[in-house]
Amino acid sequence: MLDALRAVRDPDLHQDIVSLGFVKDLRVCGGNVAFSIELTTPACPVKDLMKAQAERAVLALPGVQQVKIEMTARVTASRPLMGEKGMIPGVKNVLAVSSGKGGVGKSTVAVNLACALQKSGAKVGILDADVYGPNVPLMLGVRGQPEVVDKKIVPFQKYGLQVMSMALLVADDQPVIWRGPMLHSAVRQFLFDVGWQDLDYLVVDLPPGTGDAQLSLSQQAHIMGAVIVTTPQDVSVLDVRKAIRMFQTVNVPILGVVENMAWFQPPGHSERYHLFGQGGGARIEKEFGVPLLGQVPIEMAVREGGDQGQPAVLAVPDSLAARAFADIAGKVAQRVSILNAE
Ligand SMILES: Nc1ncnc2c1ncn2[C@@H]1O[C@H](COP(=O)(O)OP(=O)(O)OP(=O)(O)O)[C@@H](O)[C@H]1O
Ligand SMILES: [Mg+2]
Repeated sequence: MLDALRAVRDPDLHQDIVSLGFVKDLRVCGGNVAFSIELTTPACPVKDLMKAQAERAVLALPGVQQVKIEMTARVTASRPLMGEKGMIPGVKNVLAVSSGKGGVGKSTVAVNLACALQKSGAKVGILDADVYGPNVPLMLGVRGQPEVVDKKIVPFQKYGLQVMSMALLVADDQPVIWRGPMLHSAVRQFLFDVGWQDLDYLVVDLPPGTGDAQLSLSQQAHIMGAVIVTTPQDVSVLDVRKAIRMFQTVNVPILGVVENMAWFQPPGHSERYHLFGQGGGARIEKEFGVPLLGQVPIEMAVREGGDQGQPAVLAVPDSLAARAFADIAGKVAQRVSILNAE
């Protein structure tokens, strides 16, 4: 039985599922075979393909009449090379969402990425690390002050996500006057004081740009990888270069680039209007060897969903933008699994 299953390979990890230890709970009862395949992420884009291959391989064996396969997942954790320092308690993989400049849709991507990963069955949290201009609570419709239990800040629960915002460090009605070292230590404390519960992925919406705040966060916490958001025009591409360099200096792998606001297609029409130009993501892929994770079109529902606290991935899952986000989430999870296996 296991020999037959050796024919099924994980295309990302380049090994067969038996050697990888993915086959669990194998039960044979007469002509009935049942087992589970435990992948390294529930968001695996080739999950169905592997299931079908395994089914076929087992059904081809003499005497087998029926096969039942359960697809499960246990997400692998990213470990820093230098011991456990910097590991945020309760979190397996910290994914930073970043951009060279503001307003490109970083928070939109972060929120929809988190929702899409959660929908696939992963345990996901989202942290708004933008102290000066927090968007995430609004985009998820989360309000109020969090509870503190046993000296840990308890994350909000929304749409199955654990949600926290660093903007809570500063009162609503006060302008933020923190600078440099003060903010640095507050952020540090905050990072390690949230009581995240068993997260496979913590998506962190970083403030825009490549300044001190971004750098200090990447130095204090172990970040598994970074997703960089851009729009298609040339000036954004220049900013992406800066963002990539910043993560390279702190040894954070770039998971890939998301090209947001890639085009506009009026409802009911087939033409695509490339309002912000074309090909930025592809140029980055070529120039830096960083994968283009996907292109998200401009859609009304995305903006409305953001304003109403209902992310497009949940509110309009069949829209092109929502499907692009889901696809991007699969690719991100895939890259995380591959890098963690290396
Ligand atoms: N694909 C899209 N289609 C339509 N509207 C979008 C899309 N992406 C983002 N938006 C809208 O553009 C605006 C800016 O997006 P968002 O707040 O996510 O950007 P940001 O990069 O996080 O900005 P900031 O730098 O201010 O944090 C929001 O109103 C959002 O709803
Ligand atoms: Mg934002």
